[in-house]
Amino acid sequence: MRLLVTGCAGFIASRVTEALVRNGHEVVGVDNLNDAYDPRLKEWRLGRLRALSGFSWHSLDILERGALLELLPSHPVKAVLNLAARAGVRQSLVNPWIYYATNVTGILNLLELCRELGTQTFVLASTSSLYAGNEGAFREDLPTDRPLSRTRPLRKPQRRWPTRTIACSASMWRCCGTSPCMGRRGGPT
Ligand SMILES: NC(=O)c1ccc[n+]([C@@H]2O[C@H](COP(=O)([O-])OP(=O)(O)OC[C@H]3O[C@@H](n4cnc5c(N)ncnc54)[C@H](O)[C@@H]3O)[C@@H](O)[C@H]2O)c1
Repeated sequence: MRLLVTGCAGFIASRVTEALVRNGHEVVGVDNLNDAYDPRLKEWRLGRLRALSGFSWHSLDILERGALLELLPSHPVKAVLNLAARAGVRQSLVNPWIYYATNVTGILNLLELCRELGTQTFVLASTSSLYAGNEGAFREDLPTDRPLSRTRPLRKPQRRWPTRTIACSASMWRCCGTSPCMGRRGGPT
């Protein structure tokens, strides 16, 4: 199957992309290689991915709807896996606008793209930062009204509406906690 993976040079997406390609899938990867943390780490991950056949790389920002619309008709995909995001909680307090743009408008762009191109599977990463202030191990039904980041709560209610309005099956991964800039490959040391 051919999939679009956004944020493919990131911590989670680079690992997911590698696993998908090694399992026989074809990945069209996009990333804007921004400097939220040292871009050399992203380039290093990208270099590893580019050595794999079955992976193609496109320098692209998910905020550029026109560019996405140009790319995908020539690379039709069965699913979109959106892991492009602004992820650091502290930076989100300093510049919430770029977080809002990427984590809200970016998702909307991709959902619209799915609708326009008839792509029926959309997967999105959510975050455990929603559960700030709760004790003990996280559970999906814990209160989420004291999130650590300003734009994180916006990602939760989105879960159902794409299915109703865009005829697209949307799933959300709730990932828990490591820093994308820790360790050599961006994983825990
Ligand atoms: N790392 C974790 O442990 C963890 C925990 C919980 C949730 N998550 C979630 O998983 C997702 C990915 O996190 P990560 O740790 O891999 O972050 P990351 O910053 O390593 O990866 C995100 C990638 O997206 C790219 N990107 C950002 N904005 C973009 C844009 N507008 N257009 C194209 N590419 C763009 C970045 O350059 C980067 O390569 C995020 O939604 C994050 O909230 C991660």
